[in-house]
Amino acid sequence: MEQDQYKRALGCYATGITVISALGTDGAPIGITANSFNSVSIDPPLILFSLGRRSYSLEGFLASETFAVNVLRENQQALAERFARASADKWAEVSYDIWDTGCPILHDALAKFECRLRHTYEGGDHIILVGEVIRFEYDPKGQPLVYCRGAYQAMSPAG
Ligand SMILES: Cc1cc2nc3c(=O)[nH]c(=O)nc-3n(C[C@H](O)[C@H](O)[C@H](O)COP(=O)(O)O)c2cc1C
Repeated sequence: MEQDQYKRALGCYATGITVISALGTDGAPIGITANSFNSVSIDPPLILFSLGRRSYSLEGFLASETFAVNVLRENQQALAERFARASADKWAEVSYDIWDTGCPILHDALAKFECRLRHTYEGGDHIILVGEVIRFEYDPKGQPLVYCRGAYQAMSPAG
């Protein structure tokens, strides 16, 4: 299979952008930019994302019993870029709150989901993490950051 072409075909599917966060094994926050977030089940409330096996944060996410999904707003591209780079300094000057389970939650995210890790599945070069949502918040008026064809975009009405 032509991998570049395959990725371009997948890129036709527009997604939102999230930062998935947790507390690392050393007690410091960890986080990655991810667009593999999806809802699995409403009752019980289950969501998933897939995590690259080469991610430096892999060990931390698998060791943590909880993680959070932070859906980014259209003006938060800089945060998406920051958390897409492997760096020890991702959280410097980022404002976040700590919710019930100790997960770091981005202060100004459009929607926030705090989850308990329930299942992990093999997924080729990724691992699929399924979480049960135990708390959420969202801004009903804000607009999401969109990712499509390898570029960040803002939403515009269809028609
Ligand atoms: C738009 C976009 C979406 C991404 N989605 C995912 C994803 O769903 N899962 C993943 O593991 N990495 C994803 N990445 C890559 C990670 O954000 C990137 O590898 C990050 O550096 C991982 O950090 P770490 O190695 O410090 O853990 C995405 C990157 C971008 C730019």
